[in-house]
Amino acid sequence: EENTFSCKTEQEIHQQRSTIESAVRGRVDFDNHTVKLGGIQAYLHEIRRSNRIYMIGMGTSIHAALATQHVLTSLTNKSVSVVQATQFIDMGEPIAKTDLCIFISQSGETADTKAALDYCNRAGALTLGITNVVGSSICQNTTCGIHVNAGVEVGVASTKAYTSQYICLVLLGIAIAQDFFSMKGQIREIIDGLRELPMKAEEVLNNKQQLKALVELIQECQNVVKECMMFNTDRSNSLYILGRGYQYAVAREAALKIKEIAYMHAEGLCSSELKHGPLAMVQENFPVILFAVNDQFKTHAFNAMNQLVSRGCVPYLIITEGDEVELENNFKNKAEVPFHFVLPKSTPCLQGILAVIPMQLLSLYLAQARGCNVDQPRNLAKSVTV
Ligand code: M6R
Repeated sequence: EENTFSCKTEQEIHQQRSTIESAVRGRVDFDNHTVKLGGIQAYLHEIRRSNRIYMIGMGTSIHAALATQHVLTSLTNKSVSVVQATQFIDMGEPIAKTDLCIFISQSGETADTKAALDYCNRAGALTLGITNVVGSSICQNTTCGIHVNAGVEVGVASTKAYTSQYICLVLLGIAIAQDFFSMKGQIREIIDGLRELPMKAEEVLNNKQQLKALVELIQECQNVVKECMMFNTDRSNSLYILGRGYQYAVAREAALKIKEIAYMHAEGLCSSELKHGPLAMVQENFPVILFAVNDQFKTHAFNAMNQLVSRGCVPYLIITEGDEVELENNFKNKAEVPFHFVLPKSTPCLQGILAVIPMQLLSLYLAQARGCNVDQPRNLAKSVTV
């Protein structure tokens, strides 16, 4: 397997079918639609009684929290806050014994996240770790936890650990909710979605035709960059990535990956923010990627697309299968239909897992086209322990 990939990061991106399987293996009963998480089983009662839920981490790990905030809120019926570890301490967040604080960290050694954990331990809160390194500091210093089981992640850019953290958080939500009869329908839908997820992730990774089109997209971005550089404009090296609802976290994560490994400025925004400032940057050829997947925010996404098109900017779209005709119908002239990458459809709260994979590949291809060291980006370390 090693030889077919140009670097560890590419290999790790392509391992995601199997890492998704590892995240659910032995934990999900697909026939009875139940979840069992050994590492938190003894504390489930206490977890269910908690007042508020905090999800704490840094970088990609906090994006896994953001991606699952909606589903955790709806499964637990509790107030769920996503707070960066540093912000958490800087704001002096008032924590009570009745709060559940979840610490998400691939390495389990991130200094900022560890400091927030110490803070919560001192406040006597119930702490739960979601880490990929068994025996790490965060593993040891939390009351209970869930192992991510993604295998060693070597690339500085976190890819497979992200999708597995995402799944572990969804499983946690199910474990909390599954004793409530009213939650059965929602849980059944998510577990059915999880059953098909590895196969669909593989589909995204193997979609050669679409991937080639994605490469074209990248080259187009590059051409815009080059063209803008010639004229030395302020658009020389930038990209907006827009998503709303579940896709907001994907937009943020995609932007982080592109900055981190391709050294290209990218900004992940909620599409509803456009009119409140960011739209001023947008003109013809300004590169924008817009998520318009099939969920409750699709109409909003199509509205955002029309706003951009009317300013001469044609966004690159990420849509879900079955929506091609609806997209085409937005354009009188078929030649004007924007580039669109078509994802297999999943249940809304899992769609972000399929949506992030082409973004990971996009950052990889951009980085390769720019001759960057993908596995070891400049100025960064895999684990930020100081
Ligand atoms: O090991 P952790 O998950 O705690 O690391 C947190 C961040 O430093 C990390 O996710 C970083 O943002 C990644 N390199 C992004 O790809």
